[in-house]
Amino acid sequence: MDKKVNKKIEISLSNNKKIQLPIIESTEGPDVLDVRALYKESGYFTFDPGYLSTGSCESKITFIDGGKGILLHRGYTIEDLAKHADFMEVAYLLLHGDLPNIKEKEKFEKNIRYHTMLHEQMKTFIQGFRRDAHPMAVMVGTVGALSAFYRDSEDFSNSRQRLISTHRIIAKMPTIAAWAYKYSLGQPVIYPNNKLTYAENFMRMTFATPCEDYVSNPVITKAMNQLLILHADHEQNASTSTVRLAGSSGANPFACVAAGIASLWGPAHGGANEAVMNMLLKIKRNAKIKDFINRAKDPEDPFKLMGFGHRVYKNYDPRASVMRDACHNVLNELGRKNNPFLAIALDLEDAALNDSYFIKKKLYPNVDFYSGILLWALGFPLSMYTAVFAVARTVGWVAHWKEMIEDPTRKISRPRQLYTGHKKRDYIELDKRQKRKSIIKAISSIIKKGYQKS
Ligand code: SDX
Repeated sequence: MDKKVNKKIEISLSNNKKIQLPIIESTEGPDVLDVRALYKESGYFTFDPGYLSTGSCESKITFIDGGKGILLHRGYTIEDLAKHADFMEVAYLLLHGDLPNIKEKEKFEKNIRYHTMLHEQMKTFIQGFRRDAHPMAVMVGTVGALSAFYRDSEDFSNSRQRLISTHRIIAKMPTIAAWAYKYSLGQPVIYPNNKLTYAENFMRMTFATPCEDYVSNPVITKAMNQLLILHADHEQNASTSTVRLAGSSGANPFACVAAGIASLWGPAHGGANEAVMNMLLKIKRNAKIKDFINRAKDPEDPFKLMGFGHRVYKNYDPRASVMRDACHNVLNELGRKNNPFLAIALDLEDAALNDSYFIKKKLYPNVDFYSGILLWALGFPLSMYTAVFAVARTVGWVAHWKEMIEDPTRKISRPRQLYTGHKKRDYIELDKRQKRKSIIKAISSIIKKGYQKS
């Protein structure tokens, strides 16, 4: 993208030298201060652990306005996409920049369906795990292992080989997640059925058995389709940034997505949906909502109210609103409208949103707060919650990987640091170290005694 620069910021350094840094205009959201020349011009690094104020890349895929609670994918609102689109349309949109026409959609869906099967040896690979392995552990291992299976397309500078890799990864994730679940149950795996949509196929591979015909429930399929869309992409979140960083060295995209799965697994990220449900289960077993709220507010207690807060949203996460409505609809249509978890979640949300701590810190429900209830209603066990998130987010990971690889200005990501360790010191022979340590210990205890007397 030709960058629009028409403003600069001048910085006066301690040696009276002045440097100017360009400001690059965005199409939406904050403009950026281009600091690429800062170190060369000033000898200073920037310091921003956790990237609170740092843009790691330029992207056209997703825009979030955290203050207004807006989420756009290539300019389309998440509300519109969740209401009108199907997951394959959103996948095409994220990958290629616009919604597909009829022909493009049919071709894309055919390409994805064509790659949903796994190599038969992957069954043996999955059987190497313990039955009680967490599905996310199985997914990290299996997706990483798939980087050994496609020797025919490892030249990622070749657009055709890149495209087939993106299709393979997106297509195989539901099969891997479903097979990991079937393996944990000791049930035979169910093969993909090319007559079904992506969401239907995933539900059937997860819940069907060879003993009876599986009948898709349109309510469930629609809810799964929405859930996949709501989790598809979210700008430079931790797992997407992991995939981008791993991919910046030119690494195999299957291996990069495995790294993304690993990052998503954490409870501060995609693992929060499982943690929310555990919290609701405890409340259902008579834990008090106010105890969770008080613990979340206690600076001495590391507990965070799971499903609340967000690095970017300081307003309601728009996905949480759509997810809450989907919960109501699915539970009503499944005849479970008196679901205890939804009632507890609504009470917990109400208590938090009216509490001054949460109001002051602008902590609102995020995508994970209601997704667990929807996954419960769809029949998923807790252990599969983050695996479902990974299936959906694969589309975002692959879209960002593709955008990064196709960026002609791409460089390997290699952050710098603030070093506060030892200055240069001489090597000490082994027989002299223990003596040195005991001398230092003796001196420090004398100094300590001296302090105590004074
Ligand atoms: C996802 O990045 C993405 O886009 C992620 C995601 C995506 O689609 O990819 O949206 C998916 O990961 C959603 C988030 C799921 N995680 C959780 O629900 C776990 C609970 N939430 C927190 O861990 C936290 O809110 C984070 C990790 C989500 C965000 O943390 P930040 O941005 O680093 O903010 P912070 O932890 O510095 O919080 C700011 C303040 C802190 O208090 P002070 O140090 O200023 O006194 O708010 C407090 C925090 O202690 N706080 C919370 C809280 N979240 C933040 N206090 C209680 N409960 C919480 N949930």
